[in-house]
Amino acid sequence: MAAVTWENPDEGAMNAPISTSGPTSEVAQAAAPGDQTGTRLVGARAHDDEREMDTSLRPLRLDEYLGQQRVKDNLSVLIEAARQRKEALDHLLLSGPPGLGKTTLATVVANELGVAIKTTSGPAIERSGDLAALLSNLESGDVLFIDEIHRLNRTIEEVLYSAMEDFTLDIIIGKGPAARSLTLDIAPFTLIGATTRTGLLSGPLRDRFGINFRLDYYRPAELEDIILRSATILAVAIDREAAAEIGRRSRGTPRLANRLLKRVRDFAQVRHNGPITEDIAAEALAFFEVDALGLDWMDIKILNTLCETFAGRPVGLTTLANATGEEADGLEDVYEPYLLQQGLIVRTPKGRQATRRAWEHLGLPLPATDSSSVSLPATDSLF
Ligand SMILES: Nc1ncnc2c1ncn2[C@@H]1O[C@H](COP(=O)(O)OP(=O)(O)OP(=O)(O)O)[C@@H](O)[C@H]1O
Ligand SMILES: [Mg+2]
Repeated sequence: MAAVTWENPDEGAMNAPISTSGPTSEVAQAAAPGDQTGTRLVGARAHDDEREMDTSLRPLRLDEYLGQQRVKDNLSVLIEAARQRKEALDHLLLSGPPGLGKTTLATVVANELGVAIKTTSGPAIERSGDLAALLSNLESGDVLFIDEIHRLNRTIEEVLYSAMEDFTLDIIIGKGPAARSLTLDIAPFTLIGATTRTGLLSGPLRDRFGINFRLDYYRPAELEDIILRSATILAVAIDREAAAEIGRRSRGTPRLANRLLKRVRDFAQVRHNGPITEDIAAEALAFFEVDALGLDWMDIKILNTLCETFAGRPVGLTTLANATGEEADGLEDVYEPYLLQQGLIVRTPKGRQATRRAWEHLGLPLPATDSSSVSLPATDSLF
């Protein structure tokens, strides 16, 4: 069992990356790997100037948190039970792609429990003393939110084990022969961990979460509701069909839905008068080069490369990266997931291959399958 070496407790407390006022996930996001596309319009990670938007549009209560019905149903029972027993809610792990509402849900849970939330992120906790200071400052029932929890340093992670299991901290004070160890009790608390990469979380840490939810991409109808809610907050006049049009192009992601709504509002303000209609929304999104499925020029370039340059044959990742001028990591982490999820490409043992849906989406004639070795995989959208 790892113990905290705490030579100067005051120093630990002073440097602890702690916030009681609001989420600070930017620490994690700014340094997140695999996102070479910082300000891509249809990228799901938050742009630097979007923190404020994220905060102003963020739902505060469970009934404002739209979609994710199964997760909400489960959570409302668990929250009610914890409240009735006057106990801390079990530790909760939230996983899923960027922009789906993990940070938002952590805040909602704390609000529904009626407790304070302290927010930090995996990479922001540099020393075990930082974590010890955070934990020992929690009041009974409080929520500690650790964003990007898969990026916690392993020795620091081990300090969490006894804290999560027994609400104790093993501390070593001093150095060498004079060192003393003692066990400190901390208040029962709820750890909420968020991660975009569950696969990178260690088994022992994952096992210590009593509740584990994976957020899925939102359905277009759910995004439509989110857009209508955001439009009300932003005082944007928009009709339901227009919200649906933006929702369909938002790649299943609320952060993107809000971003596209703001771009469409800007376009409408300059080019049109009155409320945003479906036609205006479609015109605006075409102007910003977001197509009917929410694909941008880079997605289209990848599909064109597979369909035209390589004539529909399977293509290895490195070859595809060279042909599109993108890094292999970027292709795999940033572009591929949505194309796969939409059934536009598949991964085969021989490489990436465009599906029939990709040819149809690009408006290209299907390749003649009899004359070549090309056999087109047919996959439907997962929506
Ligand atoms: N269920 C929802 N209902 C309404 N709005 C939502 C919902 N989920 C997310 N949002 C909106 O999307 C924005 C992004 O959500 P959030 O920051 O919680 O995502 P995240 O999963 O934490 O992303 P990241 O992995 O990048 O940290 C929020 O500001 C909020 O306005
Ligand atoms: Mg977040």
